[in-house]
Amino acid sequence: MVKVDLSGATGFFTASGPDYALAEKAHKTLAEKSGLGADFTGWMELPLRIKEGELDAIVKAAEKIRSRSKALVVIGIGGSYLGARGAIELLKPLPGKDDPKVFFAGNGLSPDYLSDILEQLGDQDFDVNVISKSGTTLEPAVSFRIFRELLEKKYGDQADEHIFATTDAHRGVLKSLADAKGWPCFVVPDDVGGRFSVLSAVGLLPMAVAGIDVVRVINAAVEELKALDLRSPENPAWQYAAARQHLYNNGKLIEILACYEPSFRFMAEWWKQLYGESEGKDGIGIYPASVEFTADLHSMGQFIQAGPRILMESVVRFTQARNRFPVPFEEANSDGLNYIAGLDLAEVNRIAADAVKDAHISGGVPNIVIEVPQRNEEGFAALVCFFEVACAISGYMSGVNPFDQPGVEAYKKNMFRMLGKPGAV
Ligand code: PA5
Repeated sequence: MVKVDLSGATGFFTASGPDYALAEKAHKTLAEKSGLGADFTGWMELPLRIKEGELDAIVKAAEKIRSRSKALVVIGIGGSYLGARGAIELLKPLPGKDDPKVFFAGNGLSPDYLSDILEQLGDQDFDVNVISKSGTTLEPAVSFRIFRELLEKKYGDQADEHIFATTDAHRGVLKSLADAKGWPCFVVPDDVGGRFSVLSAVGLLPMAVAGIDVVRVINAAVEELKALDLRSPENPAWQYAAARQHLYNNGKLIEILACYEPSFRFMAEWWKQLYGESEGKDGIGIYPASVEFTADLHSMGQFIQAGPRILMESVVRFTQARNRFPVPFEEANSDGLNYIAGLDLAEVNRIAADAVKDAHISGGVPNIVIEVPQRNEEGFAALVCFFEVACAISGYMSGVNPFDQPGVEAYKKNMFRMLGKPGAV
């Protein structure tokens, strides 16, 4: 289980402090499935369900792809994209020599981006995993049409054997197409929204193809979710949810999520969708932003330290470094760095994080630390479960439905009308 350290935030709490009674009530509502959007809380049982369901088939499909292809093109957007990318960049930022390269398409409409992927694919053997719960989202649908054409040119009659669909179990254009063409189909469960779906086939198939041990991820997630059911202020999900709601109610309108591992960048993107779509509605919500440290200390550091005092900072810290690099000793000390010679880079990184924490607190930015033991399968599962449970509790604490996203439709309506989609008004 992750640990939450609120020592850098307590100085900013008012006398009442985080409302654990409200966190408890929100947790009860979530666990009893009695709140708004309860139909979309299937993610709480997802690891157990997938373990007893599709997990074997996902692993087998991944083995097939790994044995015959040099690349997998994953087509999807939003909740059908960010979790897989977050996991792969966190755990496998560079593919091993036997790992296919995973490309992500359909997450925008840029022809240049698409053309870069096609160029990098070259004439390598590849498979496609198209992911869309609705099956109608424009960005992935357009990309999929283009990649289908490419597969047909490359593999002729065999093209359909290179397509794996992840979509609704019963409905939608993609499901109908998959059934008609005989593509293997994985399910985005009815009771799981896109942003909570990373531990379904949506995230697991691309992760397994990239060489991540998804059985370890799921086993760890089952245990994490049990542990996170703890009904006590000792529950890290309560601590995080209650602290950020308290800080928000006291003027900290923006939360920046930081990490000292560059490989965390897309996990932060996943987190932004999870919290942004779940909480930003009805005129309220904490705006989720992210920074990559130490790099962004040299760009955003000034703003964090001395801009408008509306920020809170949550920092994900992996306590055990995966690699060790002592700073070399140099006799001449021409760069003046001998004062840290022999110190491991992981230790320098840790000291930098402590120094930044103190500086930002003294600049008026409350600091929440989220500690994870290791950047591995278990660490990933712990983070996902923690952030999902805390998000649902935090959303219920603020009074919104954390599981809908009505605001996403407005731009689509305009775009479809302007593109001349039949029936669009
Ligand atoms: O969380 C969500 O609901 C969205 O981000 C969707 O996942 C995203 O719009 C993609 O939708 P779909 O999977 O239906 O293509």
